[in-house]
Order: sequence, then structure tokens, then C-alpha cells
Amino acid sequence: MKAPAGVDPSTPSVARMYDYYLGGKDNFASDRQAAEKIIEILPNLRDVARENREFLIRTVGYLSEQGIRQFLDIGAGLPTQRNVHQVAQELAPESRIVYVDNDPIVLVHARALLAENDRVVVVDADVRDPAALLAHPDVRAHLDFSRPLAVLLLGVLHFIPDDDEAMGIVATLKAALPDGGHLVISHGSLGELSEEQESEGRQVFSRTSVPGTTSRSYAQVLAFFEGLDVLEPGVVPLQDWRPTLDQSLVREGKAGALGGVGRKADPQV
Ligand SMILES: C[S@@+](CC[C@H](N)C(=O)[O-])C[C@H]1O[C@@H](n2cnc3c(N)ncnc32)[C@H](O)[C@@H]1O
Repeated sequence: MKAPAGVDPSTPSVARMYDYYLGGKDNFASDRQAAEKIIEILPNLRDVARENREFLIRTVGYLSEQGIRQFLDIGAGLPTQRNVHQVAQELAPESRIVYVDNDPIVLVHARALLAENDRVVVVDADVRDPAALLAHPDVRAHLDFSRPLAVLLLGVLHFIPDDDEAMGIVATLKAALPDGGHLVISHGSLGELSEEQESEGRQVFSRTSVPGTTSRSYAQVLAFFEGLDVLEPGVVPLQDWRPTLDQSLVREGKAGALGGVGRKADPQV
């Protein structure tokens, strides 16, 4: 693939590494090398990435069935098969989606794919400044925060290693949710890794597009939903969130990622 303007092919990008785990073609040699090193440490990572996409499809499909017509997808990633807008607009063509990412290659590809879909916009913003993200004119113009909407944080909070920072980001986004709004999170949760594995992983990520990465426990992922009603079945390994027969991917070994959906309750009457 030729690097589009503004894209540095020599620094591995977590968006392009994820594309490689999923079997995509939008990645460079530096991404593939870094991704292969991570796969050596976490041999089931490709399955986890696929489960994460299946979780996205099931949660967006579920929310669409519940009448949600607005989605703010933060850390959206490179377009792949069945993106949020395709799942949501399949059920309800009027659904409006804002994709947010801070990786230039994601912005180039997503804008090219979506040029003719006026119900979808792509915004260059950083989740580490959630107030600026929420105030972005394109976000405000495209979404109505007084009506139900869903904020998606799929596979992105583990790139915010500082716990207080991650909690603060989520708190700001939850505060912006209207009553009846939803928050969907998926997050790497790798169980026990040896010190050697952790240090090797840290070294690989230190050379990529993100400041670092971290795994979080069940209790830590659950804590992100504080103040919301967590929908059944709760915070669970991704493959256990309302699996459908044709989507359940049976896999040996420890959970690789956890996820859940929270809903902001309607005010008491
Ligand atoms: C593992 S991919 C997940 C893609 C998609 N959400 C999914 O779950 O399939 C993580 C994405 O988060 C983006 N990302 C990482 N740090 C970010 C930040 N600080 N602000 C916005 N996006 C970020 C990366 O560029 C990448 O596209």
C-alpha cells in the first residue's frame, strides 16, 4: 500500500496493526512486524480482534433494535467489513454516525469510504481531550445530545494507561449522555502475563502511535460503568455478550477482552 500524505509508514500505528490482526490489507511492513511481535506474546490476539468486531456488530444491532439512531464511535479504527454505520443503517437507514479517530490513515480511508453517505461524518479528535471532542462543531452539528444516542469506546481505552485519566475521560462522556443514552465499552483484559511478556509488550508499543497500553481487570472495566445501569449479561468476555449461534467463536484459554453496555436511566418520576 502506498502511504497517503501525512501518514508515516515507518512508525507502527495501532490502527494499522489491528487491521493486520483482522486480516486486512491497510498496513505497512512496520505495522506487520510490530503486530507479529505482539502475536508472539498473545497468540490468540487475532481471535480477540475478531471477537471484538462481532461484539461491535451485536451491540450496535441490539441498540438499533432498541431505537437508538445516533452513534458516536470513538477510536473507530480503519474501515473493515460491517462497520457501525452499515450495521445501524441496515436496520434504520436514517441512523446518524460520527466516527472519531486521531490516526491520519483512519481519517483518509474513512472519509473516502463515506464520501457519499451524508448521515455519517468522520472527525479528527483525541479521546484524551473529551471536552474538545464533544464540543467539535461537526459532532454538535451531526448529533442531537438531547435525544438518545450511544457512545462507543471499543478497543480504545486500553491505550490510555493512566487509570485516573481513563476514568476521567469516561466520566466526561457519561455526563454528556442524555437520559436513555448508552455507553458501550470493550477493553483488553489479559489475565496474568509474566514480567518478561509485559516488558516485551511495553517495548513494542513504546515505538507505536500510542503512548502505551494496559490491560484492565473485570473490576476496573465494570467501574467505567459506574452511575449507569449495566444491561444483561453485565461485563463479560466479549464472546459471552448475547452471542448468536452463527457468531459464537469457541476458543480455548483465558479471556482476552471484556465488554458491556450501560444505560443512563430515565429520571425518576
Ligand atoms: C484497536 S483499534 C479499535 C477499532 C474499533 N473501535 C474496533 O473496536 O474494532 C483502536 C483505535 O483507537 C484509535 N485511538 C487510539 N488512541 C486514540 C486517541 N487518543 N484518540 C482517538 N483515537 C485513538 C486508534 O487510532 C485505532 O484506530
